Amino acid sequence: MPTGGRRGIDEGTTLDRSSTGRQNQPMSPLGPDLAPASAPAPAGVQPRVVTLHVNGAPRTATVRPYDVLLDVLREELNLTGTKRGCDMGTCGCCAVLIDGRPRLSCLMLALDAVGRNITTIEGLRPGAGLDSVQRFFAEAGGSQCGFCTPGFIITARALLDANPDPDEAEIREAISGNVCRCTGYVKIIQAIQRAAEEERAGDTADGR
Ligand code: FES
Ligand code: FES
Repeated sequence: MPTGGRRGIDEGTTLDRSSTGRQNQPMSPLGPDLAPASAPAPAGVQPRVVTLHVNGAPRTATVRPYDVLLDVLREELNLTGTKRGCDMGTCGCCAVLIDGRPRLSCLMLALDAVGRNITTIEGLRPGAGLDSVQRFFAEAGGSQCGFCTPGFIITARALLDANPDPDEAEIREAISGNVCRCTGYVKIIQAIQRAAEEERAGDTADGR
């Protein structure tokens, strides 16, 4: 587990856990799966059709006020690259970029993402192959089961966009909100370092 402080949150590169609202989700006394299907939605929780700007394109989704972005991405928009790990803001698997900054989509209301630029792992390099961070995760062996990998890559992408030459401590700090249960963190850090080196050298067509 990486160690270090969380100074990076001020630089917009460490995962932002703010803006939950899940605690406001109406819950049946019978539990979430046992609510009567025919019960009318209480006033104020009617679904709305909204347009989300995802991976450079407008996407229409039907969203209830208490839906979190993770659910809408995966279940409404079929963008299943973003993973659900803990569902409570502790693992980083669900990270996406909101206006270029990493956010936990399990803690962000989908309605709060209206009007923002949302980038998921599928949209890092749409139609242009792998992002260099993705490529070096594969080459350096930075993943095993891969479940945590999209979240790490999203966080690393935000770091390198903000700081093209991070030292190891800065990398560890940036990924301090991402948990991997399979690998050591050494290869993950090496992958980010190698991606940064390549991008600084301009070895990729557009620096990525
Ligand atoms: S699923 Fe969002 S932080 Fe774990
Ligand atoms: S590679 Fe399996 S949790 Fe990270």
